[in-house]
Amino acid sequence: MPDTPQDLALYIHWPFCLSKCPYCDFNAHPASLMDGDIFAPALRRELASEAARTGRRRLTSIFFGGGTPSLMRPAAIGALIDDAARFHDIAPDIEITLEVNPTHLELGRLAGFRLAGVNRVSIGVQSLDDAALRVLGRHHSAATAIRVIRAARRLFPSVSFDLIYTRPGQDRRKWHYELTAALAIQPDHISLYQLTIEPQTVFEGLHRRGRIDLPEDDVATALYTDTEALCAGAGLRPYEVSNYARPGHESRHNIAYWRYADYSGIGPGAHGRLDLNGRLHATRRHRAPEIWFRQVGRLGNGMGGEDILDDTETGPEAILMGLRMHQGIDLARFRARTGRALESYVDTRILAQCLADGYLVMDTNTLRATPEGLLRLNAVIDRLLDQG
Ligand SMILES: C[S@@+](CC[C@H](N)C(=O)[O-])C[C@H]1O[C@@H](n2cnc3c(N)ncnc32)[C@H](O)[C@@H]1O
Ligand code: SF4
Repeated sequence: MPDTPQDLALYIHWPFCLSKCPYCDFNAHPASLMDGDIFAPALRRELASEAARTGRRRLTSIFFGGGTPSLMRPAAIGALIDDAARFHDIAPDIEITLEVNPTHLELGRLAGFRLAGVNRVSIGVQSLDDAALRVLGRHHSAATAIRVIRAARRLFPSVSFDLIYTRPGQDRRKWHYELTAALAIQPDHISLYQLTIEPQTVFEGLHRRGRIDLPEDDVATALYTDTEALCAGAGLRPYEVSNYARPGHESRHNIAYWRYADYSGIGPGAHGRLDLNGRLHATRRHRAPEIWFRQVGRLGNGMGGEDILDDTETGPEAILMGLRMHQGIDLARFRARTGRALESYVDTRILAQCLADGYLVMDTNTLRATPEGLLRLNAVIDRLLDQG
């Protein structure tokens, strides 16, 4: 688990998908825009220039995210993993995750991804209901998704998949049925996201025109509570707002973000937080693939901007990320990372109120949200950081 300043988590972004899903606001563009065989070597170039800046670190995780990184050839993934292993010291228990879309293409490529060095897959199932999959604009059926998960379970030491719930028309009975079917597949890890209507998506337009009705807040809360109970029954423990795992299968890479550890992000739109000579750098790559690609051709990196964060910025970020985890924020670690005690960032009367209301608990070592607090985490954090 990334814990010491020299540990590094590496994120690699592949910004292309077969088509854009109507709910999605990730940095994802039609795959027809760019030849992947030309694009992948640019990622290798940027990885090399980033490693020259960070210096040799102990690499605890690599995460290929997107977009749809499973559109990459296994050989291209293998080349990036091999490069990372030359530039860094690979932790013996390194986690190497690939986000996989569950289509026939991936079914044929899973063994190649495993041979390339991937040891964990995160599969974007989204739903096990074919009608819902059509509404979500997906290219796969529930049956194909289940085939991909089963094949992945035979090949990879750790398998996760994503579902989106609180979808239009979903009630407790329907979600109970769908989640029970998902848990019967016995994933090691599952990410369960409540549908959010993101700006500038097709769903936003439909929602504005009244063509999408989301479940009411009380139904959404009930679905969340039911989710925890059903996952617990299947041996999957919640460890973050939307993530559940069998013990030992928590995502190390995502935990590095939530614990505000060092991570490096390459590829279009990727963000990083890096301690360079004792100062925390926030890096962001150009979002548009063609601009990023041209700049990598000229300079070896697609950096769009970089700031050195001061303690007024690091503290709130670390609180925002850390309270998402059930284990909460390690107060000693927080002070080491930001240079200040957590109490110095919050209005202590509001902190005392949140503790008295039962939304937060604090002892000498940690501050964490209670189950009640997790249900309204954004509001709690806004109040704590005086953004409400
Ligand atoms: C980077 S995305 C997609 C990964 C992969 N391309 C796929 O679609 O399977 C990671 C996850 O975010 C979730 N997601 C994306 N947009 C969302 C939204 N508007 N509301 C809730 N979850 C969303 C989906 O579950 C998705 O699998
Ligand atoms: S949900 Fe996945 S496949 Fe769909 S547009 Fe977003 S990143 Fe691409």
